[in-house]
Amino acid sequence: MSAIDPLIRIEKVTKDYVTEAVVVRALRTVDLTIMPGEFVAIVGTSGSGKSTLMNILGCLDRPTTGSYHLAGIEVGTRSSDGRAIVRNRLIGFIFQGFNLLSRTSALENVELPLQYRGVPVKERRARAKKALEAVGLGDRTDHTPNQLSGGQQQRVAIARALVTDPPLLLADEPTGNLDSRTSFEVLALLQRLNRDLGITIALVTHEPDIAQCASRVITVRDGLIESDVRHEPLDASALLEEVIREAKLRDRAVVAEAPHAVKASRLAIPKALPLFTLMHFILGGILGALYDAAIFGEVGVRIPLFLALLADIVLSSRRFAHLGHRVRSVGRAVDVALVTHASFALIFVLALFLPRLGPSLLVLFPAGPRVIGAALLVTVVSLALRVIALQTPIFGRARP
Ligand SMILES: Nc1ncnc2c1ncn2[C@@H]1O[C@H](COP(=O)(O)OP(=O)(O)O)[C@@H](O)[C@H]1O
Ligand SMILES: [Mg+2]
Repeated sequence: MSAIDPLIRIEKVTKDYVTEAVVVRALRTVDLTIMPGEFVAIVGTSGSGKSTLMNILGCLDRPTTGSYHLAGIEVGTRSSDGRAIVRNRLIGFIFQGFNLLSRTSALENVELPLQYRGVPVKERRARAKKALEAVGLGDRTDHTPNQLSGGQQQRVAIARALVTDPPLLLADEPTGNLDSRTSFEVLALLQRLNRDLGITIALVTHEPDIAQCASRVITVRDGLIESDVRHEPLDASALLEEVIREAKLRDRAVVAEAPHAVKASRLAIPKALPLFTLMHFILGGILGALYDAAIFGEVGVRIPLFLALLADIVLSSRRFAHLGHRVRSVGRAVDVALVTHASFALIFVLALFLPRLGPSLLVLFPAGPRVIGAALLVTVVSLALRVIALQTPIFGRARP
């Protein structure tokens, strides 16, 4: 194969899945050529045929009709053994779920493909070590997958895919289980492998940012290639730095700038406003009843204050976080609780130190609706305070 021959050439490929009830036409006449050294992203909605195309590219499955040449070898018509040989020689796979052996060290996981090929122990150990070093995990060779983070596990899987020096790397949703920071780490690694080692990469993704890191984006729809666009790829390591910078900004205890300068997108509130408001209204009702009893009844002030704080810490804790907003640490929970509590305390201060003004706010309401009035007051004040607080956390640190 000369340098200008395509690595992948698919012509008029179709794929039908024949089930008892129906025939699913998963691919309908696909033509595709990928040159050595390309970095291709395959995108499309769920069920559009991305995985089917990937499985054919990866020689895991055979097209129903049409031809597939990989590195000049016709593989579309080969038997499954024939395809396995080509696959082992030419292709490294990366999966969404990492597919590592769980009780086996990183080094042994990476060694596995070499073991299947009968490479002697010493050599395969050395090559596996080198592959792990290439993905930045030279110091984690003895760790088992459960001792590694998701991103590290995916890097082990990439090392395993690389250890046989394949010219082609195929990845089906490799960042599907990773957060955006780790996704860009993995992407930066793939870009480096593509650039420095000239490995051809085809990856399936449904995340637009990830796809933009490839130099060519192929959109599949209803089993057809809908568009095929080459463009200047985004640099994943620059995106990674941006994500880290944003996380650091969010991390800072107090945002120095005025609240309106902070991006609106950082406010978690609007998304869950109805639930958030309801939660606070219920809380406000409880507090209001206590408040009412404290001011007009016998109950001491300290107990309701304590209960209020406790209730809000519970409501703000991880378990209930999905109700209104994301609270990812104890510090943040306390922070958020204090804000709600502050609004409650404010009413108490009004009532205790400005007796005329305090109770007069509530005396506006007759006894029964007084509780509702207090609930409304707590809700409005705590919402307002929290809008400010979520932009300028007092104690909390949002995790990157
Ligand atoms: N083994 C199978 N048997 C029957 N139908 C299948 C099989 N695999 C995929 N399909 C169908 O083929 C279509 C394309 O699937 P797939 O390639 O997995 O899509 P994607 O990866 O883009 O979500 C879908 O309609 C899916 O239901
Ligand atoms: Mg799929």
